[in-house]
Amino acid sequence: MDEMSDKKISVAIDGPAGAGKSSVAKKAAKDMGYVYIDTGAMYRAVAVWAIENNIDIKNDTQKLIGLLDNIKIDVSYDENVQRMHLNGKDVTERIRENDASMGASAVATIPEVRVFLVDMQRKMGENGGVIMDGRDIGTAVLPNAELKIYLTASVEERAMRRYKEYIEKGIECDYEELKADVIKRDENDMNRKASPLRQADDAILLDTTDKTFDEAVDTVKNLIKATEAKN
Ligand code: DC
Repeated sequence: MDEMSDKKISVAIDGPAGAGKSSVAKKAAKDMGYVYIDTGAMYRAVAVWAIENNIDIKNDTQKLIGLLDNIKIDVSYDENVQRMHLNGKDVTERIRENDASMGASAVATIPEVRVFLVDMQRKMGENGGVIMDGRDIGTAVLPNAELKIYLTASVEERAMRRYKEYIEKGIECDYEELKADVIKRDENDMNRKASPLRQADDAILLDTTDKTFDEAVDTVKNLIKATEAKN
């Protein structure tokens, strides 16, 4: 436990889909006694709420905006694993389904949804000691985070990692299709009007294309230790 400091900082990790942000952030947080906050899960929870209430995210946008106050999202932790609760119901597994991924990407383009969730995320991060991952953490949610990391990998590498993950789970898939999916998600995230994904000016670029998972985790942990020592 000698990795745990009492001078905890706020860490913002942003980057494109499939770069390994959440698994790297989760492991670094566990080793260093930080709280890990997955903000993508919150966009997914809003999408699940819309789906379950028969709201067409693209066509009934105003209706969704008007009903945002009815959405109660809570986060709890089970051995460092973030569990998501939507109006009291555990949706941790539900938000990983494909319709939730597609829906999350649609709700993430709505400025009012972003304001609603960013407000919640700022409150969660205000006392420090958090590693928060997403697309706009360093640029919008925690602009004063002591450490900002932009974690990325090449399109081919991200598609290959997803391919291997599926194959290991016995899910049939096509590499070229997965690659096209990665390109489409990048385009959505980087070109939307509201808080598009971009590297904050003061973020450190961490390209994990040629790094193993453990190397990426070690790099993040070393950056945290160095930043803690400076603060
Ligand atoms: O990281 P993820 O795949 O769970 O994110 C789901 C969607 O939410 C994705 O389309 C990007 C969006 N998102 C966002 O716009 N801002 C964040 N801070 C986190 C996720």
